[in-house]
Amino acid sequence: MTNKKLVVGNWKMNPDTEEEAKRLARTFRRAVAGMHRTDTVICPPYIYMSSVRPKEHVPHYHIGAQSVSFEESGSHTGEVSASMLKDAGVEFVIVGHSEMRAAGESDGSVARKTLAVLNAGMIPILCIGEKDRDETGSHYDSIKEQMKRSLQNIPASKCDDVIIAYEPVWAIGVSEAMKPEDIFEMSIFIKKVYADLFGTDVARKITVLYGGSVNSRNAADIIKIGQVDGLLVGRESVNATGFVELLKTVDFAD
Ligand code: PGA
Repeated sequence: MTNKKLVVGNWKMNPDTEEEAKRLARTFRRAVAGMHRTDTVICPPYIYMSSVRPKEHVPHYHIGAQSVSFEESGSHTGEVSASMLKDAGVEFVIVGHSEMRAAGESDGSVARKTLAVLNAGMIPILCIGEKDRDETGSHYDSIKEQMKRSLQNIPASKCDDVIIAYEPVWAIGVSEAMKPEDIFEMSIFIKKVYADLFGTDVARKITVLYGGSVNSRNAADIIKIGQVDGLLVGRESVNATGFVELLKTVDFAD
């Protein structure tokens, strides 16, 4: 990763209307236009994809999807394929978000989706994170296993195109993010596991994001002390004022 930061806004099932989606996207496009050290990815619900996509290329502004099917085409009701997303101008795809895992998505399915995204020429943002923590440190094992299983199909030639988003489930949708010092420790651990799987050179270059209750007030410390390459933001990414403030903060953080 270069010293550029990546901020991914996961809109989840928001906002309620297309008009509001357009308004948010317009605000964020304007805000990122003046930034040089931050790339922003907006991940709207599928139905708003074309309203949120700019007519012309906007520097540092990208479109992402919140999920994808691992199937190529055919009888899969309700699903959207990787090639459809690519055709719609999507560059990044979130896979394995904890809310989808909680609804039954397995590591095996996450692995197939990750590969489908790579094969279609997009970048997967692979979410990993422990459900809870105890004194025995069992979260290290669960992260390691989750990474191994979710990355099992990835050929060595594509392993440096994967972005890892570390999102401890207990820190999502709450009032406080994880402590930046602990984020730092986990980002080192994730790179170590990546090195064991694909080698040190690749691990040194991969992008690691943190997600879980990030806002404009804690973003700078998470970047600076947590030493991550960027952020995956939920609630604050549909708050026009808060997200613009967050982007500015990240752009200025060293
Ligand atoms: P949050 O969500 O920022 O609202 O905690 C993060 C996420 O689920 O990706």
